[in-house]
Amino acid sequence: MQKTKIENIHAREILDSRGTPTVEVEVETYCSKSLRSKCNIGRAAVPSGASTGAFEAHELRDGDKKRYLGKGVLRAVQNINDIISKKLISKDVEVSLNGQKEIDRILIELDGTENKSKLGANAILGVSLAMARALANAKHVHLYQFLGDRITPSLPVPMMNILNGGKHALDSVDLQEFMIMPLGAKSFSEAVRSCCEVYQSLKSLLYSKGLNTSVGDEGGFAPSLKSNKEAIELILQAIEKAGYKAGPDFYLTIDAASTELYKDGKYVLAKEGKILTSDQMIDFYSDWVRQYPIFSIEDPLSEEDWSGWNNMTKALGLKVQIVGDDLFVTNIKRLKRGVDEGTANSILIKLNQIGTLTETLETIEFASKNKYKSIVSHRSGETEDTFISDLSVAVSCGQIKTGAPARTDRVAKYNQLLRIEEALGSKAVYGGSNLTACLK
Ligand code: PGA
Ligand code: ZN
Repeated sequence: MQKTKIENIHAREILDSRGTPTVEVEVETYCSKSLRSKCNIGRAAVPSGASTGAFEAHELRDGDKKRYLGKGVLRAVQNINDIISKKLISKDVEVSLNGQKEIDRILIELDGTENKSKLGANAILGVSLAMARALANAKHVHLYQFLGDRITPSLPVPMMNILNGGKHALDSVDLQEFMIMPLGAKSFSEAVRSCCEVYQSLKSLLYSKGLNTSVGDEGGFAPSLKSNKEAIELILQAIEKAGYKAGPDFYLTIDAASTELYKDGKYVLAKEGKILTSDQMIDFYSDWVRQYPIFSIEDPLSEEDWSGWNNMTKALGLKVQIVGDDLFVTNIKRLKRGVDEGTANSILIKLNQIGTLTETLETIEFASKNKYKSIVSHRSGETEDTFISDLSVAVSCGQIKTGAPARTDRVAKYNQLLRIEEALGSKAVYGGSNLTACLK
């Protein structure tokens, strides 16, 4: 088995898409077969959430109010440059996912806490992902090939966010994300094209109604609307205006990010002037599922309302995809509880919620063994890093959530998927028809 030596690890503070600092890491390995060029450098940048779940791995921030309002990441950077690099430099690593597993195990042990709060999950994840890229380069394969060496790759259906609300666009609607899924498309590139057409038609529709066309954190429009329902109605009009049919061509997806709406055991829909109980929220969604072509609802209820989640799954779990984001936080232990109790039927996958690549892959594998679908996802604070595009293809999970076709931090992910589709050529499989089969 090919091995390579870790020559250097270096971290720096860079900016994410909100102008907030984040961690970037470079891992350099030596490959005896090649000349000692820089070909084995792997670089990765860490994303960051706004509507973060309470059970996520710990994002280490400096708290020094004199820099970036306390949001600097110099301590995480220092933990990599001083502590992690000392432990890993000169180590021989197998150029495979086993080698990756070994590095991630060392990182977890070195931190020693349950939620990676000592070194910071942002420090650990940066090293873990840069390592994977360095190993892929040492193997002279694309990242998606390295990550999915046992699986036939397939391209994901975009769960494309075109209207932002909640914490991502404060003056817009209560629910955080309104997305479209081009399940009727024949290929990934056709899917992206049709989504862009709907996005542009939504823009002109908003403009014609005198509504704001500025965008939220994930690139979706953020108009000031009177109700959440109005967002759905506008999107349906935009689909039609672009020449498509809601239902066969496009389905709708919602991320309510309900933990953010949960106050004293109730759900506050401020824009609509409503305060709802858990059961009333379920009625609210049931009504929408009856009226609209909804494929998926993420975080319909709060991370604290586990019994509500079970009721929601009983009510709608056979009709729609019910996705745990804040509820499961990409954590296999929390997902196990979900499987045992029959909570939700899908999981959102965010690398930085758990903090290493290996743990992420284990959660995806556990989900799939238990017939839970996985959706690989970005964070609202992103960089130009496109790791999740390769990951979504490598694990063939069939769905990716990575924002609007606007702002380079979001578009970069779609562009990387277009490159992968081209590289796969006639072997490129698009996941749309498999998902449509789930609806029956
Ligand atoms: P976040 O939002 O990255 O701000 O947590 C994304 C999501 O909730 O899915
Ligand atoms: Zn979410």
